[in-house]
Amino acid sequence: MRHHAVRRSLVGLLAASLLSAAPSPSTETTLRERAGSFVRPSAVPHPSDNPWTADRERLGRTLFFDPRLSASGTISCATCHNPSFEWGDGLALGVGHAGKQLARRTPTILNVAWGAAFFWDGRASTLEEQALGPIQAEGEMNLPLEELVARLRGIDEYAALFEAAYPGEPISEDVVAKAIAVFERTVVSAPAPFDRWVEGDDDAIGPAAIRGFELFTGKARCSVCHTGWRFTDDSFHDVGTRSDDLGRGVHLPEILVSQHAFKTPTLRNVERRAPYMHNGSEPTLEAVIESYVLGGRETRPSLSNEIRPLDLDGTDRADLLAFLATLTSDGPPESLPRMPR
Ligand code: HEC
Ligand code: HEC
Repeated sequence: MRHHAVRRSLVGLLAASLLSAAPSPSTETTLRERAGSFVRPSAVPHPSDNPWTADRERLGRTLFFDPRLSASGTISCATCHNPSFEWGDGLALGVGHAGKQLARRTPTILNVAWGAAFFWDGRASTLEEQALGPIQAEGEMNLPLEELVARLRGIDEYAALFEAAYPGEPISEDVVAKAIAVFERTVVSAPAPFDRWVEGDDDAIGPAAIRGFELFTGKARCSVCHTGWRFTDDSFHDVGTRSDDLGRGVHLPEILVSQHAFKTPTLRNVERRAPYMHNGSEPTLEAVIESYVLGGRETRPSLSNEIRPLDLDGTDRADLLAFLATLTSDGPPESLPRMPR
């Protein structure tokens, strides 16, 4: 046994000296340890008061993609949370009813099942609570709830979908909210190369990405806030984004560190979700990294004390980008539901 261990470490040393760019065996151990806090969960958490069933997921998915949930009949949840844009819209600021521009960028709904508070400022605490907001919001779908319920009752094929999902309950706004929430919890980012690396496949990501992970969890200090497999602490910080929006501070005017603070976004599939930040003010990932290198674009009293200028050279920045790219899922494209008539 001893024999084998010695041979393995010699091979390890040899490999390390051949590939001078590869991390040394000792950092590799620490990196593997760090990787341990990024392991994907094995199941989606569904609340006991609105558990998953296949029929609920089907109803929720259908409602999510149905533009008849808007006054104009042209805007569905998926207009803004579009699977082709990783469940966002690819715009700096959302655009809703009658072309009205919203104040904030549309966040992805990937992995919201694990979320603790919703919206950039955390003002909704459950997905059930959140779902009816955009339907009624004048700037989003602009449809009064009585009209929503009347419309859905008027579409024959919905009757069977609702009955299968929530037997015995009449079609109501509460049932609509519950079904949409069940569906949203099933929107999970498919495994990415980084996940295979975390599981122990050393070749799943390249040496630049491994160095990027080392920076992310080390000198660049990104994982102070972008923690766990979703890369978010579900908390709110002012990272110095250029904007007048007070974010969480709108709801907590007395608390200094809540001013200009926004929810830490997930970094899953981030490469495909430009532009970035709550207002889309950073067009590329290079620009986001630049903003962190500067220690934030705006230095205000509320700036998080975790944000300070970083000493990252061109290679470091490229390595961070290579790492972020390994968070892109290799899953199949989403297929769209057939609409009830
Ligand atoms: C017109 C574009 C638009 C439409 C339509 C829309 N949303 Fe959103 N959604 C947004 C924007 C913008 C935000 C962020 C608002 C904020 O933080 O103040 C958001 C936030 C969310 C969030 C919070 C995500 C998070 O991580 O905090 C969820 C969940 C969500 N929307 C679900 C829905 C559902 C369900 C529908 C349909 C009933 C819907 N949205 C319709 C633009 C839209
Ligand atoms: C103090 C906590 C904190 C630290 C440290 C931090 N971030 Fe962030 N990150 C955030 C918050 C909060 C936002 C959203 C800010 C906003 O919208 O104004 C964000 C946004 C981002 C975004 C944009 C994602 C999107 O969907 O818009 C990327 C990419 C990102 N951070 C990467 C990094 C990297 C790389 C590092 C390390 C160099 C880092 N972050 C360090 C909290 C942090």
